[in-house]
Amino acid sequence: MFIFMILGLLAGIQAQVTPVFVQTGTDLLLEVKKPVVLKAGDLFMWTVGRANVVRLAHGGKPTISSNYTSRAELSAQNHSLLLKNVQKGDSGVYRASVSGDKDITVAEYSVTVLDPVSGVKLTVKLCSSDSTKVTVICSTEDSLISNTFTCDTQTCSHEGGERAEIITPGASLDVYLENGSAICNHSNQVSSTKDIQKIEDICRKPEGKSSKLQFD
Ligand SMILES: *[C@@H]1O[C@H](CO)[C@@H](O)[C@H](O)[C@H]1NC(C)=O
Ligand SMILES: *[C@@H]1O[C@H](CO)[C@@H](O)[C@H](O)[C@H]1NC(C)=O
Ligand SMILES: *[C@@H]1O[C@H](CO)[C@@H](O)[C@H](O)[C@H]1NC(C)=O
Ligand SMILES: *[C@@H]1O[C@H](CO)[C@@H](O)[C@H](O)[C@H]1NC(C)=O
Repeated sequence: MFIFMILGLLAGIQAQVTPVFVQTGTDLLLEVKKPVVLKAGDLFMWTVGRANVVRLAHGGKPTISSNYTSRAELSAQNHSLLLKNVQKGDSGVYRASVSGDKDITVAEYSVTVLDPVSGVKLTVKLCSSDSTKVTVICSTEDSLISNTFTCDTQTCSHEGGERAEIITPGASLDVYLENGSAICNHSNQVSSTKDIQKIEDICRKPEGKSSKLQFD
């Protein structure tokens, strides 16, 4: 009961923070959606964690913190922050705020910088002699997943398989059948890679004997 209350509370807090996933090396624009009007004595700031990225006083010019010179820009029109060429170390909670008589948060983003996923390879482990059972293996540099499909003359259905053992955090590896082809899909929030092979081709005997499977 107590735990549920805490979870509910955390969910409530997190709901105000917009999650953003961005690929390493790209530019990131963090927008302030509502117009911000600074009064005399007000200070506008973009912060990440406890570090200041940029600060702007009423009537002044933006001051970019030394860590961000040449790679952060503040839009004079709408106070959006442009971060160029983001790296994994730039991940964190970015907050735009106005400090005056009160502290007001005007935008908040939880930013995660991710590398694109590595390529995938689909290989056949087994084609039963009557071609009704096909086991394919989907592999990446750091993980393996296998799936068994049972096929009749028209279609194949998924029967079972093993999950990937080691996988890059945040990435998912899937192997499935669609339209007579086995598809291996490696993806995370910023990218995906695929390998696709027709089951027909997968089970074709090297000597050229045609299999009993028919797909159209
Ligand atoms: C500047 O960046 C470095 C590395 O990310 C960090 O250790 C340091 O605390 C930062 N300095 C300030 C003033 O934010
Ligand atoms: C804010 O300004 C930036 C740069 O001038 C622009 O790219 C962005 O679309 C603007 N955003 C809004 C919400 O107006
Ligand atoms: C299935 O494959 C056929 C032939 O390659 C193609 O014409 C059709 O659009 C595909 N259907 C789907 C749902 O991908
Ligand atoms: C691969 O996975 C990504 C993320 O789950 C998804 O957006 C994409 O549609 C998938 N591709 C296929 C062909 O299913």
